[in-house]
Amino acid sequence: MQVVVCKDAEEGAGIVTEEILGALESKPDLVLGLATGSTPIGVYQQLSLAHCEGGVDFSAVRTFNLDEYCDLAADHPQSYRSFMRKHLFKDINIPEENIHFPPSEGPGLREKCLRHEDEIRQAGGINIQLLGIGSNGHIGFNEPTSSLASRTRIKTLTEKTLRDNSRFYEDPSEQPQVASTLGIATILDARRILLQAYGEKKAEAVKASVEGPISSYWPGSALQMHADVTFILDEASAARLEMIEYFRKSRADRVRLQEENTI
Ligand code: GLP
Repeated sequence: MQVVVCKDAEEGAGIVTEEILGALESKPDLVLGLATGSTPIGVYQQLSLAHCEGGVDFSAVRTFNLDEYCDLAADHPQSYRSFMRKHLFKDINIPEENIHFPPSEGPGLREKCLRHEDEIRQAGGINIQLLGIGSNGHIGFNEPTSSLASRTRIKTLTEKTLRDNSRFYEDPSEQPQVASTLGIATILDARRILLQAYGEKKAEAVKASVEGPISSYWPGSALQMHADVTFILDEASAARLEMIEYFRKSRADRVRLQEENTI
């Protein structure tokens, strides 16, 4: 596990964007796992810019989003489909048929979710998975106590998540209670994972995920089992890490060794 402590979210978004664009250069049909929420918006802005001003081509890219609400129409402004259209898809040249979301409408959702796992495999698996993290440690919508071996399925949202996201709903009765999400094992199958977390509200979840014991109670801690994961943080979200000075040193060493072409 690597931890990078950035000056701010913009610097973090730059690091993530650079890695995606680098991967895209060597693999134009990159398979990206995408996240929603406020955290990845900076990356989506920079990717949009790379297309509009830098001519970066997304026509062969395939995307799999992490999650989608179940009891919300696909064209509802708060659906994750709408979110992705607004923040990324409308601004890049990705074909509609290359965009995937976990199934969120019945009937037969359970079977559809299983087939979704096959679709990811048939695409060759996810090359780079972007993640945010909930203040309760959820990744995707894998809420605390989600099985670490879970696959794409339906989850009921916790009170804490509902509270965190209630600001998006004027009428509380409209807020969805259930979502479909890639499972924790599905996320761990990705070859590379980049988790961004910014702000003091995420400090406890970051601490538990990076330095805590692996536990389904803090789903982000499952990432400790992944061989190629980087947490991209700001000072506030990293503030509770006991090993913060080690992480700074390790990052500086890595940058130096890369510049010297040693690694
Ligand atoms: C949402 C999403 C997660 C996201 C998290 C944090 O509910 N399901 O994928 O990482 O909560 O959201 P934010 O980035 O807005 O803090």
